[in-house]
Amino acid sequence: MTISKTASSNVSSPYTIEKRLQLQHLLSSTQAKEIKQVDGSDVVKGLSQTPKSLPPRYFYDDKGSQLFEQICELPEYYLTRTETAILQKYAGEVASFTGACELVELGSGSSTKTRVLLDAYQELGYPLRYLPIDVSAGILENSAKDLLADYPSLQVNGIVSTYELALENLPAAELPSRAICFIGSTLGNLKPEECERFFSQITSALQVGEYFLLGIDLQKPAHLLNAAYNDSQGVTAAFNLNMLEHLNWKFDGNFDTTQFEHWAFYNESQHQIEMHLKSKRSQSVHLRALDLTVEFEMGETILTEISRKFDINVMQQYLEARRLKPLQVWTDADRWFGLVLCQLQSA
Ligand code: AVJ
Repeated sequence: MTISKTASSNVSSPYTIEKRLQLQHLLSSTQAKEIKQVDGSDVVKGLSQTPKSLPPRYFYDDKGSQLFEQICELPEYYLTRTETAILQKYAGEVASFTGACELVELGSGSSTKTRVLLDAYQELGYPLRYLPIDVSAGILENSAKDLLADYPSLQVNGIVSTYELALENLPAAELPSRAICFIGSTLGNLKPEECERFFSQITSALQVGEYFLLGIDLQKPAHLLNAAYNDSQGVTAAFNLNMLEHLNWKFDGNFDTTQFEHWAFYNESQHQIEMHLKSKRSQSVHLRALDLTVEFEMGETILTEISRKFDINVMQQYLEARRLKPLQVWTDADRWFGLVLCQLQSA
């Protein structure tokens, strides 16, 4: 393991960073390949259907994760800064509810918001253990090292994995309790039936009495949502198109990104943003590693993401019905974003 200069020269660390960092790569394991979660069968399936679609997790190669970080800074993209403000105000309450507790984070990315939570646990004098889960190995490793340099007593157990695979393979808890954090409104990417599956994985991964912290984007006027997914600098467009570059790299493909365009809109009746890539002409694309040729008509679209916008009261009932009892709900003054802390009840 290579340690960066800034990290290893941090004299305030009582323990070296190396000793406090563990990284597991579940995606490269043979087990992962065997259970067909990372072999591209989801790409073949999505591109062979009408209408075409691709799983949003293919946004997040290292480049895509960087572009997403840029999205979070955009003036139109209110989600990240609103959720961060809620956390800054209420992380202390979250930590008081859970007590000493290790944090498992699904889709940890740069872990910026996690720092707010870690600060709150640190302030209450609790030991810090963090288990970030992300499909992007680069961003996971870098942010883990940055965190270890800044939190001298923190233990990090990072898992490079899809959520599903990680939840099935979580290492044993080392602190009295555990909270699975799913913030950033990533839940919005899941269709209702995928949500059901996801929540049964969450409840199987938790012990009764343990916690689930959920951050969700809430329903609001369409113009605000349309602006957030059609930013004036074109970063969201670049993020969307990068999925094709990622597929080219991963599956030896020949998508020409200049021949597709970003198309996103709020579907008001479904309460969801739909993000597509639209083919500018009729064309055929080949993905050699998947032995797949895909034909596009001019104007044909690939659905790359849905981003659902929730009603906070409906969500509370939904969680409660799945044994995840909401203990507290926090929102911003405009009610644009919601944070829910739940506790797993016995069956
Ligand atoms: C990371 C899934 C919450 O849905 O807003 C940002 C991803 N897509 N801009 C979202 C995204 C376009 C984002 N999530």
